[in-house]
Amino acid sequence: MGTGFEFKPRILGFLCNWCCYAGADLAGVSRYQYPPHIRVIRLMCSGRVDLAFILRAFSNGTDGVFIGGCWLGECHYITEGNYDALSMMHLCRKLLEHIGVNPDRLRLEWVSASEGIRFAEIMNDFTRKLKELGPLGIGEGRDVNGLKLKLEAARNLVPYIKLVERERLRVHFDTEDEYNEFFTSDEVNWLFDELIGDKLSLSQIMLLLRERPLSTGEISEILGLSLSEVSRHLNISARKGLTRFSERQKRFAPA
Ligand code: FES
Repeated sequence: MGTGFEFKPRILGFLCNWCCYAGADLAGVSRYQYPPHIRVIRLMCSGRVDLAFILRAFSNGTDGVFIGGCWLGECHYITEGNYDALSMMHLCRKLLEHIGVNPDRLRLEWVSASEGIRFAEIMNDFTRKLKELGPLGIGEGRDVNGLKLKLEAARNLVPYIKLVERERLRVHFDTEDEYNEFFTSDEVNWLFDELIGDKLSLSQIMLLLRERPLSTGEISEILGLSLSEVSRHLNISARKGLTRFSERQKRFAPA
């Protein structure tokens, strides 16, 4: 017997004013059918979508985030913001994967003002996909509060991640395939783990310790990190004066 509960994914859409927003409008006036669960934020260019916006949306329990921009080569600004959106999307998907959020919850598509039907089809497909994934956190088999903490830790690192992106990951290719290739390359995976992954784990540990003192084993269990990894981060943070070990409690706490 069914529960009678139909999961309706909450979707937040960041739509470029010049193309996708007009496409969504056309879909509406043309009466193309698509699920009504999407909430729209209109921006002047897809390049305006900040990494922090996406992490915040997921922190607030959004099940899926959609970014709609002008086709490559058709951005209305000389800075070609849609290429920046593409890079940011790849970086954000890596980040989501790292913290245990299915990266398919983030989707970027190009939709012109005349493609109302394309917008409706994408929304139908994205909704179907999100229904398959299930609610954020539950679909990942993760504790929702634990996931929130990881998202907050990632949000705290956004200025640093942007710096890494600017200094080490800023590229310009002509095609989406080249971006895919670059962001899935061993070199970028290594850079991500080296420069961002470790800081992300430490940021999570520090947030957790702010709530209460914890042992290495407790941190490892809550965050799903290995004991050796937690131990390594605690040693480094203690050396930097960020954490201290209480002999009496046998637990770590912020210094
Ligand atoms: Fe539409 Fe830049 S103006 S993506």
